[in-house]
Amino acid sequence: MRHFTHLKDYTIDELNAIIDEAVVLKKAPASRSSALAGRSLAFCFMNPSLRTQVSFSAGTASLGGNPIVLNMGSGGTWGMEALEGVVMDGTAAEHLKEAVPVLGRMCAAIGLRSFPAGKSWAEDKREDALSAFTKYSTVPVVNMESASGHPCQALADLMTIREKMNPKKKNFLLSWAPHVKPLPMAVPNSSVEMASMAGMNVTIARPEGYDLDPEVMARVKKNCEANGTELNVTADPQTAFDGQHVVYGKSWGSLAEYGKPPSADPAFRAKWTISSEKMRRTSDALFMHCLPVRRNLVVNDDVLDGPWSVVVDEAENRLHTAKAVLLHVLNLNSTRRLQETLK
Ligand code: CP
Repeated sequence: MRHFTHLKDYTIDELNAIIDEAVVLKKAPASRSSALAGRSLAFCFMNPSLRTQVSFSAGTASLGGNPIVLNMGSGGTWGMEALEGVVMDGTAAEHLKEAVPVLGRMCAAIGLRSFPAGKSWAEDKREDALSAFTKYSTVPVVNMESASGHPCQALADLMTIREKMNPKKKNFLLSWAPHVKPLPMAVPNSSVEMASMAGMNVTIARPEGYDLDPEVMARVKKNCEANGTELNVTADPQTAFDGQHVVYGKSWGSLAEYGKPPSADPAFRAKWTISSEKMRRTSDALFMHCLPVRRNLVVNDDVLDGPWSVVVDEAENRLHTAKAVLLHVLNLNSTRRLQETLK
């Protein structure tokens, strides 16, 4: 049994094989319409979602399976406790130690979305809920965004890049952007990890105090060294755009001041909002964002509505990659089936 929870557990060849399957599914959406016949899959959300919820639900249905969406702790089902040994006299009515095995008796795979609480990075980084799911589950677990990673988003991102260019030696910029909240680091972490694994030169433009987690940066550095590519970190949000082929816009919270919203100073916001002036410095770069996005705060209308933007293509690819991930964790991917047929 193999979970799909962290990019670091996979090689780039394995990730590209999942994307290859997604490419086939995009071309022939009905080609595996009974692959999950007779199976139910549980998608557990501890936080809101549009793309992830719909891509896994619609993807399961189009593979012939039965998607069950559980909104945990918000009226849909019980609030869950993840830690062992606690006295459960708070809001959580059920422990994951029972709930996850129960889901495993009824469902073929389980997805989990669990955002950080935003009070202590040391605590959030432990990924208590995701760890409990993988510990107690008897069926594969898919990470649908945790505190430190969003591997399903990264797969769709790489698929979108592959549709437009060969990523090897191309230039990838992750550009920090303003926001009203200190957002999680899952998407920026996974985006640069994926870009570095795919053999891209990686630049991160961020204000001082907004460095990504050192463990993520160490993996990105190692990947870039192994691929002979460059890794740059800068606080200059103008020159960072020069010659880029992909611009990934994203806001995230500061590790140095964890839980504190970014400055609302208009000059600071104007400096970091992604504009068409900045995009014109690139080599006709793609503009990417995982969505949802706040217009004219993170990125201006003329970028999102302009020729650079592939954000809707990127969102559509969540569907195809979600289907490919489910086939992968359930050992139903086409390559494996072909190999078993040839045995
Ligand atoms: N990109 C993404 O995961 O979107 P949702 O939060 O809407 O699922």
